[in-house]
Amino acid sequence: MATQQPQMHLGVLLLAAGNVVSGWRLPEAQAGAQNFPLIKQVVEKAERAKLDFIFLADGLNSFPGMHPSMVLRFEPLTLLGALALCTKQIGLGVTASTTYTEPYNLARMLASLDHLSGGRMAWNIVTGAFPEAAANFGREKHPAHEERYAIAEEFVEVVKGLWDSWEEDSLIMEKASGKFVDATKMHELNHHGKFYDVKGPLNITRPPQGYPVFMQAGASDTGVNFAAKYAEIVFAIHQNKDTAVAFVRRLRDAAVKHGRNPSHVKILPGLCAIVGSTEAEAKAKLAEIGALTDPVYAMKILSERMGHDLSSYPLDSPAPELPPSSIMQGHAITLAETARRRNMTLRELRDYVGVSLGYRLVVGTPEQIADEMEDWFKAGAGDGFNLLPPWFPGAFDTFADHVVPVLQKRGLFRTEYTGHTMREMLGIPRPEHPAKRVSPNEKRASAASLA
Ligand SMILES: Cc1cc2nc3c(=O)[nH]c(=O)nc-3n(C[C@H](O)[C@H](O)[C@H](O)COP(=O)(O)O)c2cc1C
Repeated sequence: MATQQPQMHLGVLLLAAGNVVSGWRLPEAQAGAQNFPLIKQVVEKAERAKLDFIFLADGLNSFPGMHPSMVLRFEPLTLLGALALCTKQIGLGVTASTTYTEPYNLARMLASLDHLSGGRMAWNIVTGAFPEAAANFGREKHPAHEERYAIAEEFVEVVKGLWDSWEEDSLIMEKASGKFVDATKMHELNHHGKFYDVKGPLNITRPPQGYPVFMQAGASDTGVNFAAKYAEIVFAIHQNKDTAVAFVRRLRDAAVKHGRNPSHVKILPGLCAIVGSTEAEAKAKLAEIGALTDPVYAMKILSERMGHDLSSYPLDSPAPELPPSSIMQGHAITLAETARRRNMTLRELRDYVGVSLGYRLVVGTPEQIADEMEDWFKAGAGDGFNLLPPWFPGAFDTFADHVVPVLQKRGLFRTEYTGHTMREMLGIPRPEHPAKRVSPNEKRASAASLA
């Protein structure tokens, strides 16, 4: 029997005023992150293109000079509640911070959304890339990098424990006996840890997927270890194919060390595509966007990514080599590598980030874009891509209408959805309830009783 060739997974990062800082300024762009009709239109388009998921990033602060997709945005869990009802099959990824929420609240919200969407939720676990958020939560400062990850680990364990606080068949609703729930199958968690004390049980049944899919984008050593332990979708940011392949190997090896099946970790490098009907048209569009990008904004984004204010460094000297930031280490390391490899001046690096936000930028015809994607995919640089359209809806529409069909024709992307839940679509198993898992202690006990 002929085996089907592996197919890509594709998601789209829905920064509605565009991923490119100046994307909204193009005449054909629809401005505004707070534009529900636009967001709905993009999500419906993504579903018609059979994408795996849309995904909403988030931050918990704002200031006037911020990226236009970040200065204002819908609260993403609320937004996904609405989107869950406008769609039927596409996965819905949402960012929520472990630093500025409580595990009980978040476990409940994500479980609710997984029920409302019929098992299509994913949680992008972030520790918070924007330190300014601390001031909105009565905190003196953003916790340090290692501490944020330590909090995140305990947070995720508590959330999983809360989702497991209901066994699968604990809701009975038996009219004759008047028994609503089976009390023997509802369990207190009684977690007492370093950062959290949570009694439980949760007040909603176990999510349809067991646990919503875990997404993560850790890029530091600690972040990669965290991703290897928990993440099922990992957002990568590499610009260079060999570095991307090495990252995939490193992450899969680390997943194995955590006792996981490495094929249950889907690694998706970011891809900012500028598509034209000819190469010249695509390049002209890149130039148009570049000309609209305010260099001061671009420098701000670059400084944010690098974790250092670079605005006073000489623009026409090589981009300065500084220790990687403790906030977005992955971007800092990858951008420094790109600058070194391409001998970029600070001005060139600023302009590159102004357009690409620090992700991989590809510019060309649908076939050229598909070639680049196929090349990376077949080289093992990832399991697909996280698409970062420079503006909405046009840049995404062009990708969906012209690049996706090329990938489909090459057998590299699905033409129909398979499965119902996001886990089924990704080929990642549903975690069984612990009551159905055999613990090492139980195995030892049963071995002892047989002896
Ligand atoms: C595609 C992508 C999306 C991200 N989305 C968010 C986000 O919405 N909110 C956030 O605080 N951080 C976000 N991050 C940052 C990561 O959570 C993480 O802080 C960053 O990749 C640095 O990794 P590290 O914490 O291991 O140093 C994102 C990163 C990537 C690559």
